[in-house]
Amino acid sequence: MAKMKLLYSPASPYARKVRAVAVHAGLLKNIDLVMAPLSPIAPNAEVDARNPVGKVPTLSADGMNLFDSAVICEYLDSKSRKPKLYPAKGKARWTALRLHAMGDGLLDAALLWRYENTLRPEALRWSDWSAGQMKKIVGVLDRLEKEAASLAGRATIGSLTVGCALGYLDFRFADFDWRKGRPKLAKWWAKFGELPAMAETRPTA
Ligand code: BEZ
Repeated sequence: MAKMKLLYSPASPYARKVRAVAVHAGLLKNIDLVMAPLSPIAPNAEVDARNPVGKVPTLSADGMNLFDSAVICEYLDSKSRKPKLYPAKGKARWTALRLHAMGDGLLDAALLWRYENTLRPEALRWSDWSAGQMKKIVGVLDRLEKEAASLAGRATIGSLTVGCALGYLDFRFADFDWRKGRPKLAKWWAKFGELPAMAETRPTA
């Protein structure tokens, strides 16, 4: 298989999701990992040249530049000979895709909260905006606690994404005790987080 190139940040939870899929698929050895530091106010020229949205992860493979993380994950899964992360059909498929959407939704809100509270100049910060993002984070966590049974069983793109989202809260929201009142989700993550796809992709600053 021709070598692929992944532009990524070791802190990005979306890039973690792609790296986790690559580990699960046994494809990490086929990917050159290239760090591409950027933020919404400090773009990266190589990323911009490959991805008009200017975000990591961006994967170059088969003569294509692929983005965003959802597209890259599906591409890698299509190349995998390991058990598929995208169930082919039926309720299992929609459960996995819905969990994927919840994990990504949690991450989107967490990133918006963080940008507001770390990147935006203090005098311009908008507390209602931050509260709105936090409400989404709490809403997803509460729903995941109620539906924790749907995370059980073989790993899917849904459970991997939820894992990356919980890992991001541990990494960047260490003061926010998301485990409090959510024992089922906490128990699931304690075990799932030890899978190679999660353990080998822990975020670093
Ligand atoms: C972070 O440092 O939290 C981060 C970096 C890149 C993308 C998203 C988040």
